[in-house]
Amino acid sequence: MKAVGIVGTGSYLPENIVTNNHFAEYLDTTDEWIVERTGIKERRKAAPGQATSDLGAIAAQKAIEDAGLKPEDIDMIITATVTPDMLFPSTACLIQNKIGAVNAGAFDISAACSGFVYGLSIANGYVATGMYKNVLVIGAEVLSAVLDPYDRRTVVLFGDGAGAAVVSEVDEGSGFLAFDLGADGSGGDVLKVNAGGSRMPATEDTFKQGEHYAKMEGKEVFKFAVRILGLTSKKVLAKANISTEDVDFLVPHQANIRIVDAALRTFKIAKDKTIINLDIYGNTSGASIPIALDEGLKSGKIKEQSMIVMVGFGAGLTWASTVMKYSGKKKGEQISA
Ligand code: UT7
Repeated sequence: MKAVGIVGTGSYLPENIVTNNHFAEYLDTTDEWIVERTGIKERRKAAPGQATSDLGAIAAQKAIEDAGLKPEDIDMIITATVTPDMLFPSTACLIQNKIGAVNAGAFDISAACSGFVYGLSIANGYVATGMYKNVLVIGAEVLSAVLDPYDRRTVVLFGDGAGAAVVSEVDEGSGFLAFDLGADGSGGDVLKVNAGGSRMPATEDTFKQGEHYAKMEGKEVFKFAVRILGLTSKKVLAKANISTEDVDFLVPHQANIRIVDAALRTFKIAKDKTIINLDIYGNTSGASIPIALDEGLKSGKIKEQSMIVMVGFGAGLTWASTVMKYSGKKKGEQISA
């Protein structure tokens, strides 16, 4: 098996900023409540007409450029999203066309906030076995499209954005060391969009009843998140044969500052060894980990040979974590000064 890792990243956030006070103007909520319970101060909202593939394509182009590649070099595109442009064709196919990745296959995966790490695991398999050389994994969401503007339990939490990574062969001893993926489908009801699929096709009635909007039992998701973070972290570190002390940097899913704090306690890691951007982007679901990873790399906080843990959890219920030793370069490439 070849050693496989991330060799380029990119992200894109829409320009339009929505502050907590925007919601406080028409909902029974306050900036204080939102900041205290979630850590979120503002989030981004896609412009009218801007869809998930538009955001994903920009992040993808940046990641390909960062990897020193051209769109034609990409063999496969995997897009993790719960807010695809449409039921089909896949958002990955739409992105493939937008960026001109003419040699790539393309498909979407649905694992909500865990989707990007699920995607990395698939990319890892392709490259490790030699089936493909360069796999583009994208996490992209326009969650504002499925939020009820009058539901204070959800509308204040989520934001729009996209992140991407190119996965290729890296030097032996670096790259992905382990993955832990899981699901508990019995918890599917705590976070969902009912209408628009085959169970509840969209009708005038489903529209009137707001069934096309996301519904969440926040407390249940919160309890699950804190519990599963501890479990999956323990498992993935054991699989990689390392301990919490070996971890240099944590890239957690950005859902709630209290959940991130729980993760930091699990890893006994200081706040400056993680990325927290939920205060300015909210919860961007499948996009949250690649956006945070890109920020960690571009800011220089994540360095070559840093041992990184990425951990996500969300609807499904699903969870996913990975340990990666960041090589900062493709196989055989010289480290730039
Ligand atoms: O990406 C993965 C998916 N999502 C998550 O990870 C989210 C996980 N859950 C959470 O982050 C938290 O549970 C929330 C932020 C969603 C809620 O915080 P909480 O501390 O668990 O509050 P709660 O759900 O227990 O609600 C407490 C009260 C309720 O009022 P009553 O029933 O006690 O009268 C809510 O109706 O707060 C109320 N509430 C609000 N009040 C003001 C809920 N949302 C708001 C709001 N503003 N925006």
